[in-house]
Amino acid sequence: MTTPSPKKPVLPPGHHGHWLLGLNEHVKDPLGALVRAQRKHGDIAYFNTQQGPLYMLAHPDHAQRVLVDNARNYPAPDKRPSRLLGNGIFQSNGAFWLRQRRMVQPAFHRSRLVRMVEDLVLGTEALAERWEPSARSGEPLELLEQMRLLVPTLLGASLFSRGVYERDAGLQASVAFLSHKSHGSARDSLWKLALRRLGYPRSRRQQFDAATDALNASLYGLIAARRQAPSAGDDILGMLLEARDTQGEGMTDTEVRDELVSLLVGGHEATSVALTWTWYTLLSHPDVEQRVREELASVLGGRPPSSGEALQGLHYTRAVVEETLRLYPPAWQVMRRAQEDDEIAGFTVRAGSLVILPTWLLHRHASFWKDPERFQPERFLPEQKEQRHRHAWLPFGGGQRMCVGNGYTLTLILAVLATLLPRFQVRLVPGHPVTPVASNTYRPRFGLKATLHPAPAVARNDSPNLKAVSS
Ligand code: HEM
Repeated sequence: MTTPSPKKPVLPPGHHGHWLLGLNEHVKDPLGALVRAQRKHGDIAYFNTQQGPLYMLAHPDHAQRVLVDNARNYPAPDKRPSRLLGNGIFQSNGAFWLRQRRMVQPAFHRSRLVRMVEDLVLGTEALAERWEPSARSGEPLELLEQMRLLVPTLLGASLFSRGVYERDAGLQASVAFLSHKSHGSARDSLWKLALRRLGYPRSRRQQFDAATDALNASLYGLIAARRQAPSAGDDILGMLLEARDTQGEGMTDTEVRDELVSLLVGGHEATSVALTWTWYTLLSHPDVEQRVREELASVLGGRPPSSGEALQGLHYTRAVVEETLRLYPPAWQVMRRAQEDDEIAGFTVRAGSLVILPTWLLHRHASFWKDPERFQPERFLPEQKEQRHRHAWLPFGGGQRMCVGNGYTLTLILAVLATLLPRFQVRLVPGHPVTPVASNTYRPRFGLKATLHPAPAVARNDSPNLKAVSS
């Protein structure tokens, strides 16, 4: 009797030649390479790269397989402790990741988000005060830079209670520098400011180490102070210190520090970029902006939200944010590494291969989004949402490793819009190039230039027509 020969792997179409031949395309324009591969080969494509085989999986069913149905086979790739992120949930895998995730997740429970809104509004009002002179002078601002200044102060308030972040110049400078260092900046002024505060150390490596040391000094100081006075704040730091694993053990100071850095540095850039794109879509669709203003007037009476419950009524504004995240997903791809051979759409995914789920492409898949290039917030109103494939919209990833900050981010963006829009009319500066670039985040390469003006008076509309379709 003959033993059946093992099934021959069937590889998807794509680039099977020497990795050097495809290198230029990938390095210069990684998103463009995926877009072209989908056009040429369809939703699944293969690339021979310097790092080995890489699969692009651009169908929501593929995302479901990788992130949910066979998630055990696809851990997040190449995670190891780093000097900056330590061994927090961003950097870990396996049992340790699960322990940390279970301890961090409750800090972002819905009931807690509702309580964070007051601080988010107060932090945004402080920015509004700083915006007033520009509104009077007509001097343009760069919105990505403004959001990069705003978001860490809001995150800081949620993590350490109000005012702590603003009072700690070392913490501010190191977060600004480290976020810039890992994500790039639309302009130089932010990191130059950070460097000045750190005294211009010599090499880039030394600057990075000095910023990490400054960050550690601040965070360990805050942790020590809170261990001494546990009731000093109703914030995420307090939650992390109280969290217990299944053995009843709490986190060490280093573990708490690592999680704080993951949340502060990891969440800051994507949120700043998401807010910037939200300004862009709002300002370039005046009809949508008008309806958002009407909703704010009818739900909040034109005042800043007083609580998280008040934000829950902003259905249309929330749909605008979700549609923005569809067309401009800051996390434009999610990566995994196959542990064992798998089969997807009739093709073999070889063990050890990297797998890319290109969020940007999934969000524009013509089989799941009608007229995908069109900005149309109504897609995200409840009745349309329910009919969608669960994995066609993945700005926060999916499955077990889905972003812990997703609910928090949406709350933050709504609180910022609801605070700033009733005070200002923001207008894009004509002619400023809005050029998306896909690097660590998908962001406007040259930022977004805008001028500020007094907000228009908006009539209160008690039944905004949420079903009408915008252009
Ligand atoms: C628009 C803003 C944001 C976007 C687009 C975003 C996107 C993502 C995505 C796609 C993932 C999953 C990555 C993967 O599966 O490999 C993720 C994970 C994560 N995000 Fe976010 N995020 C945002 C804001 C935030 C904020 C504000 C925080 C913290 C307060 C945060 C904390 C985290 C953490 C800790 C993880 C790792 C979760 C884990 O591995 O278990 N994110 N994020």
